[in-house]
Amino acid sequence: MRGRFITVEGGEGVGKTTNLGYIRAALENAGKQVQSTREPGGTPLAEQIRGLLLDPINTGMSADCELLLVFAARAEHLAKVIQPSLESGQWVLCDRFTDATYAYQGGGRGLSRQRISELEALVQGALRPDLTLLLDVPVAIGLARAGERGSLDRFEQEQTDFFERVRQAYLERAAAAPERYRVIDASLTLAQVQAQIDLALRDILAKE
Ligand code: TMP
Repeated sequence: MRGRFITVEGGEGVGKTTNLGYIRAALENAGKQVQSTREPGGTPLAEQIRGLLLDPINTGMSADCELLLVFAARAEHLAKVIQPSLESGQWVLCDRFTDATYAYQGGGRGLSRQRISELEALVQGALRPDLTLLLDVPVAIGLARAGERGSLDRFEQEQTDFFERVRQAYLERAAAAPERYRVIDASLTLAQVQAQIDLALRDILAKE
């Protein structure tokens, strides 16, 4: 049977790494084979594109170039990892996917949602995540956490208003498609965040 496609989204410093580990363990405990991956990236070529996107040397990259690089990496990732894994029955757990494009390139950079959705259709056909967990924290908290990590990549160097637009775009998308999204309040304690994740995974695991 085809596997399920779960994505994890959120702004900077929302705790994706810790929670991805928790989600993976929860799925494995439920007997699923899990392919963990990330965007941009997930294959050697797509990781090279990630390098171009995140390198501060490319500050000033045009928004359209950024958008096309994101989708170029995604096309490679879908062909080499996501589609084959789902077809072989594995569950794919992906750290960011196209919702990040709507949030960062749409909300953050101000590109038209229509243009993004055209590329989405071109690159993905009908494929969409089965479930998206949106880890949400106020921007000031997220940036303070991300700032503790040391050197900042090209996105992390953006200003607060950019991240406010990213957060709003995520929340708007989640509100528009409640059947696919679960919004997790990631400003709470780890135990409280994990309890919300357990609840969010319950339905998709129960459906099997
Ligand atoms: P992260 O995975 O370490 O959070 O870094 C990836 C960065 O790439 C993050 O700042 C968001 C950005 N990004 C986009 O701008 N558009 C996209 O479609 C994706 C997947 C990521």
